[in-house]
Amino acid sequence: MLWRRSHEREASQFLEGPPVTYPLEVVVLPTPEDVDTYAANAVIAQQKMKPKSVYIMPTGSTPKGFYQRIVDACKKRQVSFRKATIFNLDEYWKIDPWHPDSYASYMRVNLIDHIDIKAKNWHIPNGNTDNPIAEAKRYEALLNKHQPIDLAILGIGMNGHIGFNEPGTAVDAPTSFVKLHQSTIERNSDQLVASNETKLHALTIGPAEILKADRIMLLAKGIDKADAVNRAIRGQETSQLPASYLRRNKKVTFVLDEAAALYLPKTIRGTHSSRREEQRYSQVQFGYSV
Ligand code: PGA
Repeated sequence: MLWRRSHEREASQFLEGPPVTYPLEVVVLPTPEDVDTYAANAVIAQQKMKPKSVYIMPTGSTPKGFYQRIVDACKKRQVSFRKATIFNLDEYWKIDPWHPDSYASYMRVNLIDHIDIKAKNWHIPNGNTDNPIAEAKRYEALLNKHQPIDLAILGIGMNGHIGFNEPGTAVDAPTSFVKLHQSTIERNSDQLVASNETKLHALTIGPAEILKADRIMLLAKGIDKADAVNRAIRGQETSQLPASYLRRNKKVTFVLDEAAALYLPKTIRGTHSSRREEQRYSQVQFGYSV
């Protein structure tokens, strides 16, 4: 990981004093399904407000239900992505985009094949390249042409990663070719459907571009995420927990089920803004057409 280590050295020279951070919005909902509905309604509302919205979107087990709700709404013509653009957060390396274990396949199966987005407006790093460092640069340049991103939707790893920005990633790390953390390798091996070959590397959008988004929504479900969520919201900002960088963005919402919020104190779980937010998207009906 030479490329990223040298970047971290530059970053630590560059950072002086404590970073500026902003208050987070924390939405705690009773069930994982409520997280799906909330996130889908937020995207549907975003599309209604701005049909040409640009998104960063994640993969993994967390967003599957959210994507299903988007697909359902799209099928009922309650939302359209004809003018929208989606950038995927990350992709394994090295993998063919048509391999069932690629994130490109995940996205086609769970979202892209079922909504009306134009093929040219869906982007994902090419995990099949022989030159992943050049691919990271290409992807970053493409992303930067579309800045600002209207909404970046993220998951969180048990180790606090966002995308494949593993512990140790500098806050200003660009889109990079990275080596995966051992805990990520073990967890993700369980999710591979068609390959015994362990995935050791990936391409990922870096914290630098994620933090530039106009709005960030992090989704977390289950007790496995409770510690990382708690540290991201209440702990010191640290490269050991890249999700803690998110407080540098002015509009970040953590959308959690009760289990993922377990270690948060009641004062955070029951804030007025949480309740207002909960109403804002939990009660929005799929009631408009485009
Ligand atoms: P998960 O992964 O949704 O499969 O838990 C989230 C992540 O690692 O970002």
